[in-house]
Amino acid sequence: MTTRQVEAPPISALRHKDLLGISDLTADEILLILDTAEAMREIGDRPIKKVPALRGKTVVNLFFEASTRTRTSFEIAEKRLSADTLNIAATASSVVKGETLVDTALNLEAMAPDMIVLRHAASGACHLLSRICRAGIINAGDGMHEHPTQALLDAFTIREHKKSIAGLKVAIIGDLLHSRVLRSNVQLLTKLGADVWVSGPPTLMPAGIERQGVRKTTSVDEAVEGADVVMLLRLQIERMQGMFFPSLREYFTVFGMTRERLKLAKHDVIIMHPGPMNRGVEIDSEVADGPYSVILEQVSNGVSVRMAVLYLLAGGAEHETAV
Ligand code: CP
Repeated sequence: MTTRQVEAPPISALRHKDLLGISDLTADEILLILDTAEAMREIGDRPIKKVPALRGKTVVNLFFEASTRTRTSFEIAEKRLSADTLNIAATASSVVKGETLVDTALNLEAMAPDMIVLRHAASGACHLLSRICRAGIINAGDGMHEHPTQALLDAFTIREHKKSIAGLKVAIIGDLLHSRVLRSNVQLLTKLGADVWVSGPPTLMPAGIERQGVRKTTSVDEAVEGADVVMLLRLQIERMQGMFFPSLREYFTVFGMTRERLKLAKHDVIIMHPGPMNRGVEIDSEVADGPYSVILEQVSNGVSVRMAVLYLLAGGAEHETAV
């Protein structure tokens, strides 16, 4: 008798009520989010960019750190899905009177939101809220830990240009030490089979990063050589205590991405940056605004990816099919 291998059906839902990090997602769940984002993107092309998928749901955007792209695209995503949205900036809340994150969250929770999108300077802040809140918690960047929706929109953008992520050489260059974008991207890209290289000054290289399945080098040229994707990361001066490099001018000379240096990459390389950019520090304006740059596409894709995350965490098709 022969036995036939039965393939598992594709998954159609996320297992968790929260999105705290890429570390919690399987490769199949990542692909589900990316595929759902493809469907969500079409909504943004309609004359009326709105569907009732999250009608009756309340989403609170709670931002303890500055943001342009993440906060705005979450709000647009929520509105496109017809959720009721509230934006709370720490500077305009009772946090300035000394209220703690936990008390702030418990008071918001008393008003029964369905989801809280949190950005906070402390690594692990989202995990803390996830333990005390009934509402789903979405990590919009916690300290130096994770920024999962950034990595998801980066993957969406790469897939758009390269069809598949497996086997691509992805060079991530810059302030690796302070970057939550790095940590989320390393996990996502290695889960999907990319060949990930990281490069930056030795003082900004996280200890043991090579144990996460990436190759590290202090030579930017080595990282860029033959790369399909080059992702630049911002120097996060606000998180630095002490001197990590002699001067911004020297940093640009040794690690900055210039048109000349980019010639080492594949002819169809794409240039990415999560923003905000320090032009003339980690990236030359000629590269940022040049033909290989997909930086503004990343921003556009952020809306579709965040719609997908909100929709799937709210229950996806089980909750509401009208997308
Ligand atoms: N990429 C990113 O997180 O940008 P913002 O800080 O503007 O949200």
